[in-house]
Amino acid sequence: MFGAAAPARLFRLAGLGEARNHFDVARARGLSPFVGRESDLRTLEAALEQVKIGRGQVIGVVAEAGTGKSRLCFEFLQHCRAAGFQVYEARAVAHGRNIPFLPVIDLLRAYLGVDPADDAARIRERIEARLLGLDPAFEAALPLMFDFLGAPDPQRPAPAQPPAARRAQVISTVRQLIYRLGEQQPIMTMIEDLHWMDAASVEFIDQVIDARGSRSLLLLNFRPEFQAAWMSKPWYRQIPLTPLDEGSVGELLGELVGRDPSLRPLEAAIYAQTGGNPFFIEEVVRTLVETGHLEGPRGAHQLVTPVERLEVPSTVQAVLAARIDRLSRRDKRLLGLAAVIGKTFRGPLLAKIAELEPDELSSALASLQNAEFIVETAVWPEAEFTFRHPLTQEVALGSQLMDRRRRAHAAVADAIEADNPKRLDDHAALIATHWSEAGDARKAAAWWLRAARLTVSRFAAVEAVAQILRGIAETNRLPEDAERWQTEL
Ligand SMILES: Nc1ncnc2c1ncn2[C@@H]1O[C@H](COP(=O)(O)OP(=O)(O)O)[C@@H](O)[C@H]1O
Ligand SMILES: [Mg+2]
Repeated sequence: MFGAAAPARLFRLAGLGEARNHFDVARARGLSPFVGRESDLRTLEAALEQVKIGRGQVIGVVAEAGTGKSRLCFEFLQHCRAAGFQVYEARAVAHGRNIPFLPVIDLLRAYLGVDPADDAARIRERIEARLLGLDPAFEAALPLMFDFLGAPDPQRPAPAQPPAARRAQVISTVRQLIYRLGEQQPIMTMIEDLHWMDAASVEFIDQVIDARGSRSLLLLNFRPEFQAAWMSKPWYRQIPLTPLDEGSVGELLGELVGRDPSLRPLEAAIYAQTGGNPFFIEEVVRTLVETGHLEGPRGAHQLVTPVERLEVPSTVQAVLAARIDRLSRRDKRLLGLAAVIGKTFRGPLLAKIAELEPDELSSALASLQNAEFIVETAVWPEAEFTFRHPLTQEVALGSQLMDRRRRAHAAVADAIEADNPKRLDDHAALIATHWSEAGDARKAAAWWLRAARLTVSRFAAVEAVAQILRGIAETNRLPEDAERWQTEL
């Protein structure tokens, strides 16, 4: 009666979307269209076909930083998502080497639909609903899984068992979980940057990785230094990712800078200098734009300096350092603080330690995004940013004075402590890491001890000992007094 001749479909707004990661954002801004990689994508495609018929696969994409591992995985997973498959993601981070199970917990949260911001009761609710929804037989494993994800149930404590037995039970639950998830439809799991994994996670992955018989594709990426025993298994395949070839570099540059005749000699020079590493290429282009050698609108640049006269540092780290150096004091300082927090950082945490007026802070963040050092990865429920690349964070971290960096670590430790009064145990290893970096032996020792207690309860006795040893190492730097003896005891 309201004028529509045919039935119209109605949609209800269910919530705000979230940019999934930096490539979505990059794409939204029209950056670096994907080039090359046809044969690698074919390999991944073939693995997917195997998975669909129940032959689980594990694939490792291996290459040096900046070669395009994350991007290749992302492109493939986008394709899987479009085909309707569930994709679960987790990552190891540079500062997480001493934080047991960081990527494993990340992964379990993804599988179980747990949001780290949830309170303990909500976490238990979600775990229970998810597991029992898949298989009522998971009932017996619930208390242990609650414990493992930092939400023990006082009403239903996990049975007292030696750490090794508890750990074995969690591992077998996770294997079952992957199997059950795959029964509904093939599942895709990606874990990024395995070279940064802590020892407990490495061991965990070793034991759940055998994908035979499950409809699961486990996609891993790491730098060449990472090695594992399972790499010789028949269900494992490795994609050694090569730098982009000259043709692909030309294509990429065509998109990034344009196809003006003045650019022809530049192409060969950039290829020679970067060896086809796409991240290096992007940073060189940014440098040339910032220093005025490339003029005109993005994607339609002209080279206004003869190629022979261009001076670009010879490593991507040096290119990044020079770009950071050209920032204003305010922006440079903020970038350094952000790098101290980590590759990904929450807006409110940065605001807390930045000592900037709100409008100064947002203008600094805007200019760092403009310069493409960082990208905003979430706006809701709170702002979250991530460095475009781990190397950007690494160089930003290293390009500040030691003294300032120490103070920043102390401020971050304090802020994390203040922000998480109810979940201090969960953050203990992270806080300890920051106090160690801050050079505050007393606080570091106390927090390593606290972290070790949690680690024992999460079934990693060996890692707990490692944390205790770190704590003791810190106490060795303290004056010989009663407080030190107390801590050592
Ligand atoms: N095939 C490609 N085509 C276009 N850009 C690419 C390609 N591979 C990587 N890049 C870009 O290069 C940068 C580094 O890639 P990334 O996947 O983060 O490297 P890695 O994970 O190996 O360190 C990113 O900005 C990415 O978008
Ligand atoms: Mg990567």
